[in-house]
Amino acid sequence: MTIAREWWKNATVYQIWPASYKDSNGDGVGDIPGIISTLDYLKDLGVDVIWCSPMYDSPQDDMGYDISDYEKVYPEYGTNEDMQTLIDETHKRGMKLILDLVINHTSSEHVWFKESRSSKTNSKRDWYIWKPPKFDADGNRHPPNNWGSFFSGSAWEYDELTGEYYLRLFARTQPDLNWENEVTRKAIYDSAMKFWLDRGIDGFRIDTAGLYSKDQKFPDASIVCPDEEFQMSFQNTNNGPRIHEFHKEMYSNVTSNYDAMTVGEVGFCSREDSLKYVSAKEQEMNMIFLFDTITVGREGGDTFGYKDWTLTDFKRAIQKDTTFIEGTDAWSTVFIENHDQPRSVTRFGGIKYASQSAKLITLLESTLTGTLFIYQGQEIGMENLPRSWSIDEYKDINTINYYKKFKEKYGNDSDFKEKEEKLMDIINLVARDNSRSPVQWNSSTNGGFTSGTPWTRVNDNYRTINVASQIDDPNSVLSFWKKSIQIRKQYQDLLIFGTFKILDFENENVFTYIKEDEKNGLRKAYVVLNFSNNSVKFEKLIGGEFELLHCNVGDVDESILSPYEGRLYIVD
Ligand code: GLC
Ligand code: CA
Repeated sequence: MTIAREWWKNATVYQIWPASYKDSNGDGVGDIPGIISTLDYLKDLGVDVIWCSPMYDSPQDDMGYDISDYEKVYPEYGTNEDMQTLIDETHKRGMKLILDLVINHTSSEHVWFKESRSSKTNSKRDWYIWKPPKFDADGNRHPPNNWGSFFSGSAWEYDELTGEYYLRLFARTQPDLNWENEVTRKAIYDSAMKFWLDRGIDGFRIDTAGLYSKDQKFPDASIVCPDEEFQMSFQNTNNGPRIHEFHKEMYSNVTSNYDAMTVGEVGFCSREDSLKYVSAKEQEMNMIFLFDTITVGREGGDTFGYKDWTLTDFKRAIQKDTTFIEGTDAWSTVFIENHDQPRSVTRFGGIKYASQSAKLITLLESTLTGTLFIYQGQEIGMENLPRSWSIDEYKDINTINYYKKFKEKYGNDSDFKEKEEKLMDIINLVARDNSRSPVQWNSSTNGGFTSGTPWTRVNDNYRTINVASQIDDPNSVLSFWKKSIQIRKQYQDLLIFGTFKILDFENENVFTYIKEDEKNGLRKAYVVLNFSNNSVKFEKLIGGEFELLHCNVGDVDESILSPYEGRLYIVD
């Protein structure tokens, strides 16, 4: 199948999480003027599209994923004029800008919700999902069903004023919108989407894009974690009965009229279900994020469930995500970090060989099929928070709620300290806080992120890991990223659009794969990555003329791969 080549397919996207990116006025919070001041840096890195995480007005209970006004910028980040400047300055440099679209829920501070909550007869009552309580035989009040929130506890919040519960799959201040209501949908399209598209933005990253259509019978979810009172509700809330109808409407009423790029966050779905969102003929979204790779070693139901992983687990996941589109008219993404994930070098690399393994992961990412996404700080190999930091340094509502629940449950146990240490090991490995520490720009106080007091602590390693120390160093992670992005573009037939095949599936140290261009099957890209702390023998697994194109070590020994060494060959 020949792949159509729309502009967003070979793009390199850079995600900015505004609070921690760059502070321009010393109040300790990143802001839009801060972003504008780095546009040349991003252009120079090779970025085509900037994805700006929520910069809308918000009480910030979930770092802006709780929006109180879609049409207004959060004052600490700047003004609507600053946003217009960002759009224009990005375009001047030949780059594009997409925004986060958070429309499964609003903040409880949004005027829509304030009205909805005010009385059972308010005209916006039905814009959110309200249900009466359930009472047991003793007259005790319970939520309408057993659905659990992604952020711990029940997914239902009781509201005294009208004596009903509202649904909130995330925080209690993130009420879910009622997509069944056509008037609500139209208001969402106008306020959250057209308002910004009309000001020139180029598309959206669509938050929780699989959750809009809830099973209208609101049945109890099946019990997966018997020890828990509340259960994850995917079965009843993810890929619901009308989800594709809603996405088709969004496409025909909004995004298709603007040549907008759309990338959805849709978790927990089969290949068949995922393809329905992104097959070109379905006319819904351009691509979605697949989560197999970044959830390697994680356990589904439990936010901080973690078991170990092996290289074959990792390969299996990459294979699944990379071959997802083969033989279809769909498109896909490549990413290993974002604001909900820890730092890839800590999670998948060898921290003893930090810079080497950051480059190894760069080589992997830059040679996989799909639109490439880089998360702020990834380009300099930023690492997870130090393990020595206590829970008090963690700011994410997801981490904090989980820790509280854990303490309530085990706080009086005689071995609580031990249990807590174990939990802290996992929090330190997978918590979202790990990617939310400020970007390290230079070696001055607070890594040059702010001249004031940062809202969240800067990683202590900013003195050694920072942009300024890497920018002119040809051997830095940053320079390696730059070169990798250039090569990716230059060999896009193979690297961005090519097919993918693993050559050494069973090998637990080395990951070797080839990328081929269906139209020109003779020429191949051959990637070999040593994911181990040891030197291993290098063997060519196919015949042909090998030309070394890119590699993350200075001196290449033809027969040996040093720890975390990776190479990209072109084979004719
Ligand atoms: C998405 C976002 C995450 C947020 C959640 C609720 O998963 O990526 O950061 O907490 O949606 O909006
Ligand atoms: Ca600021």
